[in-house]
Amino acid sequence: MSNTRCHRASENCCRPEQVPKVILHRDGHAHQGEVASNSNLVVRAGIKQFPYPHLRYGCGMGKCAKCACRVLKGAEQLPAPNWKEKQRLGPRLEEGYRLICQLWINHDIELAQDKTPLEPLAPVVP
Ligand code: FES
Repeated sequence: MSNTRCHRASENCCRPEQVPKVILHRDGHAHQGEVASNSNLVVRAGIKQFPYPHLRYGCGMGKCAKCACRVLKGAEQLPAPNWKEKQRLGPRLEEGYRLICQLWINHDIELAQDKTPLEPLAPVVP
């Protein structure tokens, strides 16, 4: 019979929390970093942590679409788009775009942000 009990100091030592790796392609460069699990990349950029200063963003509330990125890898682990993403991105969702301010990252992900920001489909309410 195998012993499945861990003998190290920490109860969670055999199940280390995943440290998501983020790759952001922008303006011909690939920027790579690690973030804490359950990180919002726009919030991080707002406090000048990676992916700052590479990630473009605006409102942080799903209104302006300036944070929109195409998800190159890891899309299958993201939750379904919320109503703000559906409203602002519409058919762009089918092209792989997501609003990064609406996502909390728990896994490795690779993103590409266009040179020019997307125009949000619905009017921006001030
Ligand atoms: S920062 Fe405005 S929609 Fe994401």
